[in-house]
Amino acid sequence: MADLWGGRFTGQASELMEQFNESFTVDKRLWRQDITASIAHVTMLGETNIITIEESADLQAALKELYAEIEADPEILSGNHEDIHSFVEAKMIEKIGDTGKKMHTARSRNDQVTVDMKLYVIESLKDLKLTVQEMIKAFNAKGESVDCLMPAYTHLQRAQIIKFSYLLDAYVQMFTRDIKKIDAAIEIADENPLGAGALAGTTFDIDRQMTTDLLGFSSIQTNTLDSVSNRDFILDGLQVFSNLMIHMSRFAEDFIIYSSQEFAFVESSDSFSTGSSMMPQKKNPDALELIRGKAGKIIGLMNGMYSIMKGIPLTYNKDMQEDKEIYFEAFDTTLACVQILTGVVEELIVNQDRLNSTVNDGFLNATELADYLVRQGLPFREAHGVVGAMVKGAIEQNSQLHDLSLETMQQYSDVIQADVYDYLEPEKIMQRGTKVEM
Ligand code: ARG
Repeated sequence: MADLWGGRFTGQASELMEQFNESFTVDKRLWRQDITASIAHVTMLGETNIITIEESADLQAALKELYAEIEADPEILSGNHEDIHSFVEAKMIEKIGDTGKKMHTARSRNDQVTVDMKLYVIESLKDLKLTVQEMIKAFNAKGESVDCLMPAYTHLQRAQIIKFSYLLDAYVQMFTRDIKKIDAAIEIADENPLGAGALAGTTFDIDRQMTTDLLGFSSIQTNTLDSVSNRDFILDGLQVFSNLMIHMSRFAEDFIIYSSQEFAFVESSDSFSTGSSMMPQKKNPDALELIRGKAGKIIGLMNGMYSIMKGIPLTYNKDMQEDKEIYFEAFDTTLACVQILTGVVEELIVNQDRLNSTVNDGFLNATELADYLVRQGLPFREAHGVVGAMVKGAIEQNSQLHDLSLETMQQYSDVIQADVYDYLEPEKIMQRGTKVEM
């Protein structure tokens, strides 16, 4: 392997060390960002007369040519290279000889790798945002296409009546917060580290504003020590993924339960389910289970990155090279989960009759009965006690609150009138107070 530091060394790195040290197999994914940042860098080197305008033009042309070549044939990204940076430099030397050797003037791989990763993270977060927005559309569309009531739960015990669409909206709210977090992560990352050099700048009179503008960053990251040792933007990305994953995982858990035969509220479509090799009757919600499982993996990757960063001294340390494998894996997984969940929701079969019928049992109108008593003049705590006793009585009779006779009800409280039945109708409940929002 050709290395970038031969002068200081007499011995060769062992093959084992070369393999251990290399990151090309992982960071070749940064080729677009590396070439783009290099074009900005050599443009600036020309404009500031650190290299000649001709040399700068040759480098720019050769970099653009390489970009087009890789786009046409990604297989070019192969061979024995330490990382994407040494690969691109080797290609420049191959293409334009000595001028290629000037590309790395006033730059280090430390600011280079940071700028590449920042560009990658910002782009990937923008892609993720669009994908989450599509998922939100799917949730809203499903909510609009279904018009039925259902029980909502606390402690997985039937609690109160809601509309099915309202449950989906709860997830839409979570994903909307995730989008705000994506925007915040992009905003925080949006400072240009290029020009920080290895750690303490360069003796050349570079123009950091120029590369900042060329690369589309909003500002220059001023402290160079911070610039090359900062991986907060990776951690922020991983936090965004983890947050999004726990939201998707909670949806997965809800709908795995709801698709069990005991609940039978929903059924996942054949295209997002799998069967069993042994039990012919099975239709398993594998897509949702995988999302739930992968959420654990993403949180693990985030924790891994935090552990890497927690104790390393300023500034750049090779530990940080691990960031790419972690980030790419976490990003790919999260993006795939968003796409899969979008499909699951689009094709979700909602058993509306079953859902509508569930709201008639399980004492889902108990709180509303207590509210009724309050309207008749009872203090809420007293009303709560009365309804509690009525529920107990109804259970003993194997009955529901709205099935108790008026006479029976009046034994618990004489303020109860015949209008109570109308009051306890699920549809009527939904029309009162704050319950009509969806
Ligand atoms: N492959 C390295 C990384 O990903 C690039 C930076 C190398 N810098 C260095 N001083 N060895 O972190």
